[in-house]
Amino acid sequence: MEDRFFSPSFGNKPQVLVGRSNELRELTEGLDSKPGSKERARLIIGQRGLGKTVLMLEVADYAKSHGYIVASPTIAKKGMEQKIIEKLLSSGNNIFEHSRRRISGGAFGALGFSVGIETEKPSKESGSFQAKLSEICDEAAKHGKGVVIMLDEVQNNAYTEEVAVAYQELVGEEKNIAMIMAGLPATISGVLNNRVLTFLTRSSKLYLEPINYTEIDTYYYKCFREMGITLSEEQIMDAAVQTEGSPYLMQLIGHYITVLAGDDGFMDDTLYSRAISTAKKEYMNDLCEVALHGISGGDMAFLRAMTDDPGSSKIQHVAERMGVSPAYAQTYKKRMMEAGLIEKVSRGEIRFAVPMLREYLISLGA
Ligand SMILES: Nc1ncnc2c1ncn2[C@@H]1O[C@H](COP(=O)(O)OP(=O)(O)O)[C@@H](O)[C@H]1O
Ligand SMILES: [Mg+2]
Repeated sequence: MEDRFFSPSFGNKPQVLVGRSNELRELTEGLDSKPGSKERARLIIGQRGLGKTVLMLEVADYAKSHGYIVASPTIAKKGMEQKIIEKLLSSGNNIFEHSRRRISGGAFGALGFSVGIETEKPSKESGSFQAKLSEICDEAAKHGKGVVIMLDEVQNNAYTEEVAVAYQELVGEEKNIAMIMAGLPATISGVLNNRVLTFLTRSSKLYLEPINYTEIDTYYYKCFREMGITLSEEQIMDAAVQTEGSPYLMQLIGHYITVLAGDDGFMDDTLYSRAISTAKKEYMNDLCEVALHGISGGDMAFLRAMTDDPGSSKIQHVAERMGVSPAYAQTYKKRMMEAGLIEKVSRGEIRFAVPMLREYLISLGA
């Protein structure tokens, strides 16, 4: 049947935000805190598909209705500065009626709305990203508003540095500004080791965890009942558990159950199983493959040695299977934890941190 509820793709706002109320509260409290407080700079850390971009989009909506002009999530890459300035100017559309041309001119003259040449030739200094941002903050402040910048898919690169350094300088000038960055665990750990960005280690970090099964179960129950899909309560709970708390897998499983159901909502065990396996296959192709991109042969051997254990693995056993010393296995462990691929269960015990990663590794063969 036609899918009215689920949308499995990256960075789109879901019809309903499932779970994440604590995270949202934490982030919005940051915006409500005093300018300059450490909660004004946030790092959202989590594997692909855990809902980092979605969370930022939600915060952006909150911010817009609570006295901020907002640069919605912008990817840290070439052309980013113009995009951020452009987004801020359009978010504060009414505020910038008169000053827009001046701010957007100079180095960013390519912006659609900056037609005129300034009376004064902008020096490199006054045309810099930081200078424009500063001017936007001042202009916004005249109208009692603050400024929020959101940087997505943060890399340890010059673009991230530029935004973070500008933020830090403007905080020093006591501007009403906030910054939220999001990225993968391994990348963020690189960013935090960047000498230029050490001040970010003091910013508040939000580690995204999988969503609660109960919340997914409740959401599925409501959606499937509304669409008249005939699943038992046990099957709905099973579907929720199969997501392993991944919001992306939740969208995929919900979507395939819906499209495989007949127009009358009929769904037997065979169709149900097919929906689950189709969703998981798509998840593995989209996500596990990308998560493993660029990891070394040694790291791969470490992860494969973990697949012998259905649940968690003892480091000691993994080391034995690899034929290395436990101390040496610790260096793999550390790296794989930073990459967000595994997590610690207890002392000397680890497990996969990405849903379906074990199954994916097994499917690749030995
Ligand atoms: N809290 C949530 N509730 C419902 N769907 C969500 C939620 N978070 C993420 N999603 C869905 O999961 C998918 C991936 O989310 P996204 O924010 O793009 O992940 P990330 O930025 O962490 O890679 C999208 O299809 C999105 O709609
Ligand atoms: Mg994203």
